[in-house]
Amino acid sequence: MLKPKIQEALNKQVTVEAQSSQIYLAMASWAETQGFEGVSQFMYAHSDEERMHMLKLVKFINERGGHAIISPLAAPPVSFGSFKEMFQELFNHEVAVSESINDLVDICLQEKDYATHNFLQWYVSEQIEEEALARNILDKISLIGDDKSGFYLFDNDIKQLITAPEEEV
Ligand code: FEO
Repeated sequence: MLKPKIQEALNKQVTVEAQSSQIYLAMASWAETQGFEGVSQFMYAHSDEERMHMLKLVKFINERGGHAIISPLAAPPVSFGSFKEMFQELFNHEVAVSESINDLVDICLQEKDYATHNFLQWYVSEQIEEEALARNILDKISLIGDDKSGFYLFDNDIKQLITAPEEEV
Protein backbone atom coordinates (compact mmCIF):
# COMPACT_ATOMS: atom_id res chain seq x y z
CA MET A 1 0.00 0.00 0.00
CA LEU A 2 1.33 3.44 -0.90
CA LYS A 3 1.75 6.03 1.84
CA PRO A 4 -0.26 9.20 1.10
CA LYS A 5 2.94 11.26 0.85
CA ILE A 6 4.40 8.88 -1.75
CA GLN A 7 1.14 8.73 -3.68
CA GLU A 8 0.98 12.52 -3.80
CA ALA A 9 4.60 12.78 -4.99
CA LEU A 10 4.06 10.10 -7.67
CA ASN A 11 0.91 11.85 -8.86
CA LYS A 12 2.88 15.07 -9.21
CA GLN A 13 5.32 13.17 -11.42
CA VAL A 14 2.39 11.89 -13.53
CA THR A 15 1.61 15.54 -14.27
CA VAL A 16 5.28 16.36 -14.99
CA GLU A 17 5.49 13.53 -17.57
CA ALA A 18 2.13 14.46 -19.11
CA GLN A 19 3.23 18.08 -19.35
CA SER A 20 6.48 16.97 -21.02
CA SER A 21 4.50 14.99 -23.57
CA GLN A 22 2.33 18.03 -24.24
CA ILE A 23 5.30 20.40 -24.68
CA TYR A 24 7.09 18.02 -27.07
CA LEU A 25 3.89 17.59 -29.04
CA ALA A 26 3.72 21.39 -29.42
CA MET A 27 7.39 21.36 -30.53
CA ALA A 28 6.62 18.60 -33.06
CA SER A 29 3.73 20.55 -34.52
CA TRP A 30 5.75 23.77 -34.72
CA ALA A 31 8.70 21.99 -36.37
CA GLU A 32 6.31 20.40 -38.88
CA THR A 33 4.94 23.82 -39.88
CA GLN A 34 8.55 24.99 -40.41
CA GLY A 35 9.11 22.15 -42.90
CA PHE A 36 11.56 20.23 -40.74
CA GLU A 37 10.30 16.70 -41.16
CA GLY A 38 13.03 14.89 -39.23
CA VAL A 39 12.90 17.21 -36.24
CA SER A 40 9.12 16.96 -36.09
CA GLN A 41 9.24 13.13 -36.30
CA PHE A 42 11.79 13.14 -33.48
CA MET A 43 9.55 15.37 -31.35
CA TYR A 44 6.38 13.34 -32.06
CA ALA A 45 8.25 10.20 -30.97
CA HIS A 46 9.60 12.01 -27.92
CA SER A 47 6.11 13.11 -26.99
CA ASP A 48 4.95 9.47 -27.21
CA GLU A 49 7.86 8.44 -24.99
CA GLU A 50 6.82 10.90 -22.32
CA ARG A 51 3.28 9.57 -22.47
CA MET A 52 4.74 6.11 -21.88
CA HIS A 53 6.67 7.49 -18.86
CA MET A 54 3.39 8.88 -17.56
CA LEU A 55 1.47 5.62 -18.14
CA LYS A 56 4.14 3.58 -16.36
CA LEU A 57 3.61 5.75 -13.27
CA VAL A 58 -0.19 5.57 -13.53
CA LYS A 59 -0.07 1.76 -13.66
CA PHE A 60 2.42 1.56 -10.79
CA ILE A 61 0.35 3.81 -8.50
CA ASN A 62 -2.83 1.83 -9.15
CA GLU A 63 -1.08 -1.55 -8.84
CA ARG A 64 0.18 -0.54 -5.41
CA GLY A 65 -3.36 0.15 -4.23
CA GLY A 66 -3.24 3.91 -4.83
CA HIS A 67 -5.19 6.07 -7.24
CA ALA A 68 -3.42 7.79 -10.12
CA ILE A 69 -4.96 11.21 -10.66
CA ILE A 70 -5.03 12.83 -14.11
CA SER A 71 -4.67 16.58 -13.70
CA PRO A 72 -5.21 19.47 -16.12
CA LEU A 73 -2.15 20.66 -18.02
CA ALA A 74 -0.86 24.16 -18.77
CA ALA A 75 -0.97 25.17 -22.43
CA PRO A 76 2.48 24.77 -24.01
CA PRO A 77 4.02 27.54 -26.16
CA VAL A 78 2.79 27.79 -29.77
CA SER A 79 6.16 28.56 -31.34
CA PHE A 80 9.75 28.09 -30.24
CA GLY A 81 11.89 30.78 -31.91
CA SER A 82 14.67 28.78 -33.53
CA PHE A 83 15.75 25.13 -33.46
CA LYS A 84 18.60 26.04 -31.18
CA GLU A 85 16.19 27.70 -28.74
CA MET A 86 13.76 24.81 -29.00
CA PHE A 87 16.40 22.17 -28.20
CA GLN A 88 17.80 24.37 -25.44
CA GLU A 89 14.31 24.43 -23.96
CA LEU A 90 14.10 20.65 -24.31
CA PHE A 91 17.42 20.29 -22.48
CA ASN A 92 16.37 22.70 -19.69
CA HIS A 93 13.09 20.84 -19.37
CA GLU A 94 14.84 17.48 -19.01
CA VAL A 95 17.16 18.89 -16.33
CA ALA A 96 14.06 20.04 -14.42
CA VAL A 97 12.47 16.58 -14.85
CA SER A 98 15.66 14.97 -13.48
CA GLU A 99 15.45 17.22 -10.41
CA SER A 100 11.84 16.22 -9.94
CA ILE A 101 12.78 12.50 -10.13
CA ASN A 102 15.62 13.06 -7.66
CA ASP A 103 13.22 14.73 -5.22
CA LEU A 104 10.91 11.77 -5.58
CA VAL A 105 13.74 9.31 -4.86
CA ASP A 106 14.63 11.38 -1.82
CA ILE A 107 11.05 11.21 -0.47
CA CYS A 108 11.07 7.41 -0.95
CA LEU A 109 14.22 7.11 1.15
CA GLN A 110 12.81 9.38 3.85
CA GLU A 111 9.61 7.29 3.93
CA LYS A 112 11.51 3.99 3.66
CA ASP A 113 9.48 2.97 0.59
CA TYR A 114 12.09 0.75 -1.05
CA ALA A 115 9.68 -0.76 -3.61
CA THR A 116 8.94 2.67 -5.08
CA HIS A 117 12.60 3.56 -4.77
CA ASN A 118 13.43 0.48 -6.85
CA PHE A 119 10.75 1.31 -9.42
CA LEU A 120 12.17 4.83 -9.80
CA GLN A 121 15.64 3.61 -10.72
CA TRP A 122 14.38 3.11 -14.28
CA TYR A 123 13.55 6.84 -14.39
CA VAL A 124 16.92 7.79 -12.94
CA SER A 125 18.69 5.92 -15.79
CA GLU A 126 16.28 7.27 -18.36
CA GLN A 127 17.01 10.86 -17.29
CA ILE A 128 20.77 10.32 -17.71
CA GLU A 129 20.09 9.17 -21.29
CA GLU A 130 17.65 11.96 -22.06
CA GLU A 131 19.96 14.70 -20.80
CA ALA A 132 22.89 13.21 -22.74
CA LEU A 133 20.80 13.01 -25.91
CA ALA A 134 19.66 16.65 -25.61
CA ARG A 135 23.24 17.77 -24.94
CA ASN A 136 24.46 15.81 -27.95
CA ILE A 137 21.85 17.47 -30.20
CA LEU A 138 22.75 20.93 -28.88
CA ASP A 139 26.42 20.27 -29.68
CA LYS A 140 25.47 19.33 -33.25
CA ILE A 141 23.39 22.50 -33.63
CA SER A 142 26.31 24.59 -32.39
CA LEU A 143 28.56 23.01 -35.01
CA ILE A 144 26.08 23.80 -37.77
CA GLY A 145 25.91 27.51 -36.84
CA ASP A 146 24.06 29.37 -39.61
CA ASP A 147 24.82 26.85 -42.34
CA LYS A 148 21.49 26.16 -44.12
CA SER A 149 22.69 22.95 -45.78
CA GLY A 150 23.92 21.82 -42.36
CA PHE A 151 20.36 22.13 -41.08
CA TYR A 152 19.11 20.07 -43.99
CA LEU A 153 21.53 17.26 -43.08
CA PHE A 154 20.74 17.62 -39.39
CA ASP A 155 17.02 17.26 -40.14
CA ASN A 156 17.81 13.98 -41.89
CA ASP A 157 20.29 12.73 -39.28
CA ILE A 158 18.00 13.28 -36.33
CA LYS A 159 15.66 10.56 -37.64
CA GLN A 160 18.30 8.03 -36.55
CA LEU A 161 17.94 9.17 -32.95
CA ILE A 162 14.26 8.21 -32.84
CA THR A 163 13.60 5.26 -30.56
CA ALA A 164 10.29 3.45 -30.42
CA PRO A 165 8.76 3.95 -26.94
CA GLU A 166 7.85 0.26 -26.60
CA GLU A 167 11.54 -0.68 -26.89
CA GLU A 168 12.10 0.97 -23.52
CA VAL A 169 9.38 -0.62 -21.40
FE1 FEO B 1 10.06 11.56 -18.93
FE2 FEO B 1 11.95 13.20 -20.66
O1 FEO B 1 11.35 12.81 -19.00
